[in-house]
Amino acid sequence: MQHGDRTALVTGGARGIGLEIGRQLADQGLRVLIGARKPAAAEEACRTIGPAALPLALDVTSATSVSTAVREALELTGRIDVLVNNAGVSLDGELRPPYVDEGILRATLDTNLTGAWLMAEAVVPGMVETGYGRVVNVTSSYGSLALMDSGRHPAYRISKTALNALTRMLAAELAGTGVLVNAADPGWTRSGMGGPSAPRGPEDGADTPVWLATLPEGDATTGGLFADRVPLPW
Ligand SMILES: NC(=O)c1ccc[n+]([C@@H]2O[C@H](COP(=O)([O-])OP(=O)(O)OC[C@H]3O[C@@H](n4cnc5c(N)ncnc54)[C@H](OP(=O)(O)O)[C@@H]3O)[C@@H](O)[C@H]2O)c1
Repeated sequence: MQHGDRTALVTGGARGIGLEIGRQLADQGLRVLIGARKPAAAEEACRTIGPAALPLALDVTSATSVSTAVREALELTGRIDVLVNNAGVSLDGELRPPYVDEGILRATLDTNLTGAWLMAEAVVPGMVETGYGRVVNVTSSYGSLALMDSGRHPAYRISKTALNALTRMLAAELAGTGVLVNAADPGWTRSGMGGPSAPRGPEDGADTPVWLATLPEGDATTGGLFADRVPLPW
């Protein structure tokens, strides 16, 4: 099957790195479902990408929204071959461990970990049925235990560490099914989250997630963490 027959779903796809991931996947010939909390934002993003993009109302913190969106996606396209768990929030203030803002911690985990997990639950069984799937979890070097050198942005860091663990578990559970699961660090990228001073543009940030989302048939790359297409320590 060629890329052109494949469908990708990108969460948080209406702006920032997610929008660029959607654009690059469409450029490679995939049909792209752009998930966004605000339907108008999803529609606008799809207009900028072109006819390969379809809007999808999706809030990854709501199990109801996730199941409704995936059902609608399957009605629209018949299949989801690629899932890019890109939606993310960074909410931390100045508090560092041992101090904790419980509300921020729970809200961060809700989006960055539980949201990705709910999406995997809704989408991966269909991939296993077809014997093909690519799951990309957009993480951050801030979540790497090996690189954990401060308590800045603690809720964000821990949410990405947990997302990395989910990546490893999913990859192990799905070994031999044709579904490859990897984590991608986009690097410090200009966006709502990265701010205007980041050294990388969205096209750089999207490159590794798109590479992992389009690993060719027969590729065995799974259970890895990559930045600039190179392994990063967990
Ligand atoms: N930028 C960086 O330097 C950097 C570095 C490392 C990792 N990352 C990761 O890259 C990913 C994309 O970040 P970004 O830089 O593009 O940030 P961004 O510009 O702030 O975009 C975040 C996206 O996530 C969506 N989102 C947030 N909560 C959501 C929810 N509950 N349901 C659905 N969508 C939701 C947002 O949608 P709304 O428009 O509805 O808010 C938005 O589309 C994130 O996972 C982030 O952690 C970014």
